[in-house]
Amino acid sequence: MLEHGGRLAKAAAEHGIPLDKWVDLSTGIHPVGYPVPPVPAECWRRLPEDEDSLLDVAARYYGTSHLGACAGTQAAIQALPLLRPPCCVGILGPTYAEHAHAWRQAGHQVREMTEYDPALDVVLVVNPNNPTGRLIAPETLLHWHAGLAAKGGWLVVDEAFIDATPECSLAAHTGLPGLVVLRSLGKFFGLAGIRAGFVLSWPELLEALQEKLGPWSVPAPTRYVARQALADHPWQEANRIWLARQSAKLAELLTRHDLPPSGGTALFQWVETPEAQAIHLRLARLGILTRLFQASSSLRFGLPENERSWAKLDYLLTP
Ligand SMILES: Cc1ncc(COP(=O)(O)O)c(C=O)c1O
Repeated sequence: MLEHGGRLAKAAAEHGIPLDKWVDLSTGIHPVGYPVPPVPAECWRRLPEDEDSLLDVAARYYGTSHLGACAGTQAAIQALPLLRPPCCVGILGPTYAEHAHAWRQAGHQVREMTEYDPALDVVLVVNPNNPTGRLIAPETLLHWHAGLAAKGGWLVVDEAFIDATPECSLAAHTGLPGLVVLRSLGKFFGLAGIRAGFVLSWPELLEALQEKLGPWSVPAPTRYVARQALADHPWQEANRIWLARQSAKLAELLTRHDLPPSGGTALFQWVETPEAQAIHLRLARLGILTRLFQASSSLRFGLPENERSWAKLDYLLTP
């Protein structure tokens, strides 16, 4: 199993600090999240059904009807590599490590690369990237897709962090063979716990994927909550603005403490510093959890949840 942010219980045990005393900045999840409505009783009692209008609501939100639901994009990340015979896969890195892991596990040759290489069979891009924040223009990605698709290749674009900037998404272009877009309800909607995501791609791939994921893979309570969140345009609009402001405020705070971010999104800021490990440990000992990337000596800071958390971060970063 790979390392991830969000393991607060583990940090609490390691540092002997009770769970409720922590400020968890170790993920890129909306710190408040979508206000989940009460779930109707039949969602607990009945098997989930594909005809519950979730796909229609999702089609309106994403701007395409070429989609299928999954129990978080992680489920799709693990299933996609099983749908191709062994091939050469390039992953624009450094990035979310589960992609390389899944393709390797399925027997593919995986190369982490810093620039696009048209010689590959499958190219995988996290856009905007986690943790660097690098954003590749849709036109560039479509150009890559055209080249790959012409020889039976795939472009897989993981858009887990794109909901705050939907104009950068390739969602509306899906349906064409060779283009796969992954969308998550975990980050922007702050619904990581319900395990909901979508795969946007051409019909044959969607069918093969559903076959792999099996029946009832997305629980009825998850489908209910996802439907409400995807249909709630006022919440989405307000939160796009709010998150962008919070993230800019975080970048300012970090810069004020001599930790200017090298990149970020509306949901996190990424700081490269030779002191990354020391800062991570110092903050953890005082009850602030950040995400440390040892290989690149960098830290990812998620958004603080409330004024107390902002004040604690500000105070503890002061030498
Ligand atoms: C880039 C990226 N993609 C996908 C995921 C998986 O998200 P989920 O399975 O909750 O949709 C994560 C989780 O951290 C991520 O950072």
